[in-house]
Amino acid sequence: MTAKKLIAANWKMNGSLALVEAVTQQLTSLSSSVDVLICPPATLLAHFPVSQHYSLGAQNLSEHSGGAYTGELSAALVIEAGASYVLVGHSERRQYFAETDELVCLKMQQAVSAGLTPVLCIGETLTERQQENTEQVIAKQLAAVYASHPELLAKSVIAYEPVWAIGTGESATPEQAQTTHAFIRRQLAQFDSAVAAKVRILYGGSVNAANCQALFTQADIDGALVGGASLKPAEFMQICQSAKE
Ligand code: 13P
Repeated sequence: MTAKKLIAANWKMNGSLALVEAVTQQLTSLSSSVDVLICPPATLLAHFPVSQHYSLGAQNLSEHSGGAYTGELSAALVIEAGASYVLVGHSERRQYFAETDELVCLKMQQAVSAGLTPVLCIGETLTERQQENTEQVIAKQLAAVYASHPELLAKSVIAYEPVWAIGTGESATPEQAQTTHAFIRRQLAQFDSAVAAKVRILYGGSVNAANCQALFTQADIDGALVGGASLKPAEFMQICQSAKE
């Protein structure tokens, strides 16, 4: 468990200049005892004022460093727009854009070599959980990265997002989340115990102001990746405040 929690907002394909304004206003009164990351649509990144209250992240990046890839964004482009983090392998990208573990690894390599911190998203579907395959699925997603580039996990944040809890209003219980987070840490420890102790593991999936406190008291939950509730500035602020040391 790391000391300072990280609360990350994933706006997905939502937001506006007005929301940038409202969220940045809210966060000006936040203390430095929690780290905050906002991942808006890439077109909004450069509209955030530089601030010590939050960092910015992209929601995706190309596996290429540049060139003739119409519609794609390279690590260098999102860095220039203000990002220092990037979400990689979100379940919506795995599901709707056919991102494989191999592609996720390539994107993580691009991110790390350009100086971005990847937030590697992993998690099982409802069917996989019902078939009691949660640990197998997660072990495979982590091992895919470790096997191709062992150095990447040490430079990453991990987000455990059970697919069945995303956008459904049905969060994992604190105990369910803790069990899986502890498993993730044990898996990381198999690769490298120093890395396992220091990598932050966020929980994502229907986190809100009402359920976050119980999640944050769990030993291996180092923060949250928040979707829907991050679009409500006051509620997002409450979640950040619940995570203070
Ligand atoms: P919700 O918080 O809306 O369930 O979304 C979670 C998520 O996918 C964050 O990346």
